[in-house]
Amino acid sequence: MKFPYYRSRRVRKTKEVIRLTRNITITRDDLIMPVFIKEGKNIKEPAENMPGIYKYSIDNLKSEIKQIKDLNIPGVLIFGITDKKDPKASWATADFLLGSIKEIKNLYPELTVFIDVCLCEFTDTGHCGIIKNGKIDNDATIKRLAEISVEYAKAGADFVAPSAMMDGQVKAIREALDENGFQEVGILSYAAKFASNFYFPFREVMNSSPLFGDRSSYQLDYANNYQFIKEAELDIEEGADIIMVKPALAYLDVIKEIKRRFPLPLAVYNVSGEYTMIKYVIDNNLVDEKKFLNEIFIAFKRAGADIIITYFAKELSKILC
Ligand code: PBG
Repeated sequence: MKFPYYRSRRVRKTKEVIRLTRNITITRDDLIMPVFIKEGKNIKEPAENMPGIYKYSIDNLKSEIKQIKDLNIPGVLIFGITDKKDPKASWATADFLLGSIKEIKNLYPELTVFIDVCLCEFTDTGHCGIIKNGKIDNDATIKRLAEISVEYAKAGADFVAPSAMMDGQVKAIREALDENGFQEVGILSYAAKFASNFYFPFREVMNSSPLFGDRSSYQLDYANNYQFIKEAELDIEEGADIIMVKPALAYLDVIKEIKRRFPLPLAVYNVSGEYTMIKYVIDNNLVDEKKFLNEIFIAFKRAGADIIITYFAKELSKILC
């Protein structure tokens, strides 16, 4: 049927009809809040270039976690920050970090704790892997990632989230978790993680920029539209429970394609640089915060996201739900 018999504007006639026909919603049920935990005492430091986001020491973490819990956000994603770095990323399992997982699970057993598993925050080179002869040693790295994951599981993490983009990392982690009796600990894999320019605030917060070269030998090339499919497929075969696309805003096509192909929960990571950009226009009163955030987060859901990891999680829970 065509105009003049068919008129599409009839279904947009009133606000009420628009509400009735609308089929995408965003609620706090979709959100995970990242949390930066810094080694030390009595720390609440602003995260560089991320207004409203802080780094906390374990003793100051309680009030932040309580807020997240009171807003009924179902999960947190933990990142550990320390100045201590070495070639093996020894401090990836530092006491302050394991202690924080325990503390959160003690306080709120029902809050789902995800923890990033990577080496870049803890290596003296800032690379996500162990270096041998000037190159990333993939197989040594996945062993180390598996060891670290087991320690996080022992501390009580519900999900480990490997983000190093090494080949075979999900398999190595799944096997190590199972061998140690952690069959119930899940893997959220950063399956499609791109070598992106949008991580710039995060790297300053974590002091984790690579000292030489870049991450292009492990993270995905954004000018390619098929490699991410293979990456997702491999991670699923290796045992990922949830797969992730990261970043989110410039990667809606990737989100859509992965959702269409794989019947697994799909997370997207609205990363630090996206936060900084969006926050800038909000704080300068260039947009209506509520409407602007709604449009962006609805877009992630429309593309196919089931779970959204975002520094806006608390803000969104307050204004949208
Ligand atoms: C660790 C890691 C990074 C992020 C999450 N895990 C940075 C990177 O790969 O350099 C970025 C998160 C963000 O920007 O919010 N590999």
